[in-house]
This record gives sequence, structure tokens and C-alpha cells, in this order.
Amino acid sequence: MNEPATSLPDITRHAAAEVAVRPATLDDVGAIHRLLKDYATRGKLLPRPESDIYQSLREFVVVALGDHVIGCGALQIFTRQLGEVRSLAVNSTYAGMGIGTRLVNAIEADARRLGLSRLMALTYEVRFFQKLGFDVVEMKALPEKVWGACINCPKFRNCDEIAVLKHLSPAE
Ligand SMILES: CC(C)(COP(=O)(O)OP(=O)(O)OC[C@H]1O[C@@H](n2cnc3c(N)ncnc32)[C@H](O)[C@@H]1OP(=O)(O)O)[C@@H](O)C(=O)NCCC(=O)NCCS
Repeated sequence: MNEPATSLPDITRHAAAEVAVRPATLDDVGAIHRLLKDYATRGKLLPRPESDIYQSLREFVVVALGDHVIGCGALQIFTRQLGEVRSLAVNSTYAGMGIGTRLVNAIEADARRLGLSRLMALTYEVRFFQKLGFDVVEMKALPEKVWGACINCPKFRNCDEIAVLKHLSPAE
């Protein structure tokens, strides 16, 4: 399950809050790939080949303890208005320490900086996103995503993920 707990540093929730969210580097690709693959194997995330992670690397942020990437997430832009939180994953050893929240907050801050007005995700973790101000929406509220990217997805005809959306007003 994720990177084996025995090889990972032990930290408290307080210490986790001190670890920076930073842009991913080439050295992080292998660890990002392993983290996503582990959740993909359990059907929680879509698998992404390593080549895809290299090509999208500048979309990724990570939280790392030394050499260990313990969380990652990416911002993919679809249109002038719409971006997506993609490939969000936190090593289960560090679940519930606020790392997922900080990754989404960093992705949201980047989306605002770029001038996006809507941020979405497709997820099974609805409660997590609701706590961060996202609302559940129908997939058809996101035609840019559905007709742009989902159409090439193996789950396209049987997608059981739930769409969540947050409006990013400049005043927030
Ligand atoms: C979803 C995920 C990123 C959450 O990461 P995390 O670091 O454990 O989340 P946080 O510690 O920031 O949790 C924030 C809050 O959401 C809650 N929460 C987290 N996961 C939850 C879940 N599955 N169901 C209900 N609440 C959840 C936490 O309890 C916490 O609540 P609190 O603020 O009252 O303490 C992580 O569980 C994960 O990697 N899941 C597998 C991959 C996945 O589904 N990614 C999302 C696809 S876009």
C-alpha cells in the first residue's frame, strides 16, 4: 500500500503542516508514478503512464519528506475558464494530516493566479472536496471536460466518478 510505511519518516500532524507544497521536479516523477499507480490499482484514480507524468510535470505540485514524495496533485487547464484538480494522492501513511487539503489549496491558488474562474474534479472522495468548498454537479455541467478529455477515457461510457466544482470569484 503506497510506499511501505517502514521506510517512511514518522511525523505528527503538526509537523506535516510545516512541510512545504512545492512544484514537482524531474526527480519526483518515479515517486509520483508509484503513488498514482498504487491508487489506480485499487480503482481510486485513473492510471497515468510515466511518460504522461513527464509531459505534464509542470502541472504537478508535491509534498515531500526528504526524498520521499508523500503527496501530489496537478492542475490541468481545459479552457479560458475551467481547470481540473487531477492526480491528487496522499500516501495513506499520512492520511488525515491535512496534506490533501494543502495540495488542493496550492492548486486552487495557482488556478486563481492564472485567472481561472472554475475548478473541478472527478472523484470518489466527495466529502473531502465538499469540505474545501466544492459542490457536486452533474457531469453535463462540465461539457468542456466531458467532450475534451473524458471522451478518450476508458471509463467514458461507464463513468462512476462524481463531478465536483468550485467557483473561484476574484474576491475570495
Ligand atoms: C482524498 C485524499 C487526497 C485526502 O488526503 P488527506 O491528506 O488524507 O486529506 P486531509 O487530511 O487534508 O483531509 C481534510 C478533511 O477531509 C476529510 N477527509 C479526507 N478524506 C476523506 C474521505 N475519504 N471521506 C470523508 N472525509 C475525508 C478529513 O477527515 C479532513 O477532515 P477534518 O478537516 O475535519 O479533519 C487521500 O485520501 C487520497 O489520496 N485518496 C486517494 C486518491 C483520491 O481519491 N484522490 C482524489 C481524486 S481527485
